[in-house]
Amino acid sequence: MKSIWTKTYERKSRPTLEGTVEADVAVIGAGITGILTAWQLEEAGVHAVVLEADQIGSGQTGNTTAKITSQHGMFCHTFLEKKGEAVARGYVQANQAAVEEYRRLIRQEGIDCDFMETDAYVYSRDQEKLKRETEAAIRLGIPASMVKNIEIPVSCAGAVRFPSQGQFHPLKFIGALADRLTVYEHSPVKEVREHAAVTPHGQVRADSIVFAAHFPFINFPGMYFTRMHQERSYVVALEDAPALQGVYIGDGEDTLSFRQYESYLLLGGRSHRTGNRREDSCFTALKKMGSAWYPKSHAAACWAAQDCITADEIPFIGNYAAGRPHWFVATGFRKWGMSSAMVSSMLLRDQICGRENPWSRIFTPSRFSAQELPQILRDGGIAVKGLSRRLFQIPAETADALLLGQGALVETEEGKAGAYRTREGDLCQVHPVCPHLGCELAWNPEECTWDCPCHGSRFDFKGNLLDGPAQEGIQHE
Ligand code: FES
Repeated sequence: MKSIWTKTYERKSRPTLEGTVEADVAVIGAGITGILTAWQLEEAGVHAVVLEADQIGSGQTGNTTAKITSQHGMFCHTFLEKKGEAVARGYVQANQAAVEEYRRLIRQEGIDCDFMETDAYVYSRDQEKLKRETEAAIRLGIPASMVKNIEIPVSCAGAVRFPSQGQFHPLKFIGALADRLTVYEHSPVKEVREHAAVTPHGQVRADSIVFAAHFPFINFPGMYFTRMHQERSYVVALEDAPALQGVYIGDGEDTLSFRQYESYLLLGGRSHRTGNRREDSCFTALKKMGSAWYPKSHAAACWAAQDCITADEIPFIGNYAAGRPHWFVATGFRKWGMSSAMVSSMLLRDQICGRENPWSRIFTPSRFSAQELPQILRDGGIAVKGLSRRLFQIPAETADALLLGQGALVETEEGKAGAYRTREGDLCQVHPVCPHLGCELAWNPEECTWDCPCHGSRFDFKGNLLDGPAQEGIQHE
């Protein structure tokens, strides 16, 4: 399942790290966060080397909808109420500064990445809510307005408009920046020391280390797995649908996202916690909506994205943990990866260069508020359930009962196994236990993967690792 970005971009191959390299900063992960952070550091005169386990943009950057906006859903009013004026204002302004920084960087460097300035809208059926959100956004410094009619065919009372936001092709963007940086591909970091990131064939020795590879994979210190969960969401690229001018997101549960890229209308949504699948197929549901709204359209591509969400819905950007003063992290972008990646790059540059930044405190991973507690407890409860399912739940099926293309937990003579019958009839069995912390994996029929409901690691049907925090694949039986 290739995203439209992957289908329309030819990646260059870059060298693999061999031997020891010296740098001021080693950045782990060549997605948009890692590349932007390295770029900002180099612009500030700090030499950064980027290490990527696969190829640049091969993780979540290649699966985003690539909206560049400070409008993160219907959030201004809620943030003002829950977090207070200073935090809400700082959060909005940091993200609005990120939108401006994209514009500056793309212009300054002449980057050909299909960037388009566009307005962003959040729509809702609730007129009062729209009014409240518009007022809150204005209070936080955004020249927002409320509009009654929008160009998408959803039922709503109107939308809140943030003017002059943006959209682009994320792989073209980071590819152009990476050409001006030192990036090593196929160089997975297997060990991190105080001042070194070690790969199978080499190491980068550096004053500082930045973890920018989606989920921070060092469990202790930091314990990020206790403070975030992961969600999957789905995108269908519709061809022959009427072109949109703005970018859109809905309000509330089961929200939908819309944007245009060239001749494709990207329709996204149907999010759920990783490892907890929905009853029906998310891709089919999106395709059905697409063909009901745009009968002449057809699906040209579909793909899914994985997002980390912190308990208080603000990303973790800053020092990795007490006792590791030279390690930094950026994660937990809550589906707003483009603006959050740019915020991360500016904050981390300033922290590494010893500069003051007015927004550092808002994003610091060391923050804790009692408001996070219920979510942390909920996430902890889910992890305990994932562990106990492994011990106490007996599967109803045996591998013989599996139809072509079907997967499930099955009972075998040796105990429980994860089994998948390929479309060709071959049986593929894995040990269905997550190597991260031992939770039982769940079959994801949508993508034919084994997903962990505890912290969101994912594996293909053969057991190969797709997404962390696990650092290795599962055993193939
Ligand atoms: Fe933590 Fe699976 S991701 S136990």
